[in-house]
Amino acid sequence: MPATPDPDPAAQPAAPAAPVADGRPYSPGLEGVLAAETSLGLVDGANGRLMYRGYRIGDLVANGTYAAVANLLWTGTWDPRSHMAAGRVPSAVLSALRALPRTTKPMDALRTAVSVWGATQVLDWPPSEVHARAITAFSPSALAAFVRLRQDLEPIDPDPRLDLVSGFLFQLTGERPDPATARALDAYFIVGAEHGLNASTFAARVITSTRSDMASAVAGAIGAMKGPLHGGAPSEVVEQIHRVGSPEHAEQWVREALARGERLMGFGHRVYRAYDPRATALRTVVEAMPTKPDWLELAIKVEDVALRVLEEKHPDRPLKTNVEFYAAAVLQGVGLTPDLFPATFALARHAGWTAHVIEQASANRLIRPDARYVGPGERDLPA
Ligand code: COA
Repeated sequence: MPATPDPDPAAQPAAPAAPVADGRPYSPGLEGVLAAETSLGLVDGANGRLMYRGYRIGDLVANGTYAAVANLLWTGTWDPRSHMAAGRVPSAVLSALRALPRTTKPMDALRTAVSVWGATQVLDWPPSEVHARAITAFSPSALAAFVRLRQDLEPIDPDPRLDLVSGFLFQLTGERPDPATARALDAYFIVGAEHGLNASTFAARVITSTRSDMASAVAGAIGAMKGPLHGGAPSEVVEQIHRVGSPEHAEQWVREALARGERLMGFGHRVYRAYDPRATALRTVVEAMPTKPDWLELAIKVEDVALRVLEEKHPDRPLKTNVEFYAAAVLQGVGLTPDLFPATFALARHAGWTAHVIEQASANRLIRPDARYVGPGERDLPA
């Protein structure tokens, strides 16, 4: 990376920066750097495999619940009877949410809620499974409360008999969701729960490495996930499908978009070189949903065309469907508005973030990499 030009015209010419003496490799974005050991999730990009503690994602979606998957990540034990209900929202959090402008982005509201929640809790070192359960149960209720408040509706108390995902939908709408709808969103939560050392998970581990607490780690992770390079593009998938318009236009639209240098949303991945296993799992879920988005048939046509044309254009670089493509269908199918998609993804990732926090704390080492100095060499201040 070139040195930043000196902004001070009065300054004397800078001596060259000290050379790097030890020849250590520099990897922008830490790409390819092993920065942690984990027994939580294996992302096998070459073979299109994702496993949580060794269990295949497809099997977890087919046979598990989010509560069981979260419990697996936290404890290492598979207990399909695990139950987790939505948590209560402390009054301090409700006051903070009431004070936010209506135009606040749901991710900002969620980050704020987690921060205020942390101020109301005793979260001693080391972060524990108890903290993980509490924050994972709290956040869906907080997001639902914010959604209602911005519509001039009062928040709804959680129903302890409902599982987390059904409880979230209940607290959003005031109605108990039908089992198939709740099941579809629960499957989305399972596929979103964990994905290795991605940016937000790394942020959570960095924060934990300073011996900070669970709420600070999750608030920081939400901040990292908010960025468009991470938080995903399911709402853009929906927009793109609408722009295609009809199945007979799919081929022409895809070719023209690629000719304009645009990226097809829901395709390609930094790690996966094969069909994203989360997309496979969610496609099965979408096909079983009672209410499918009206654009689903068109989306399937667009996918067929896009895969064919992308292979034609990039024969050496496999560009396959990623999780966002079918995530969009699930999220819209269960009735969530596109502006809630990123925050719902954040809710799902709570299980993984908090499991990584516990894992980091269990063998903690302060994360403190070095930067290669490329600024001016030693010099005197201007007289
Ligand atoms: N549509 C069209 N072309 C794509 C593409 C897409 N979705 N994804 C990658 N490519 C092309 C690039 O244009 C590039 O072509 P070039 O070599 O001719 O310049 C080549 O494939 C490699 O792209 P690169 O940017 O190195 O890939 P990456 O690993 O950095 O990108 C993503 C990963 C996810 C950022 C990228 O695939 C993308 O932007 N996808 C669309 C957005 C999306 O679905 N995001 C959700 C991800 S879960």
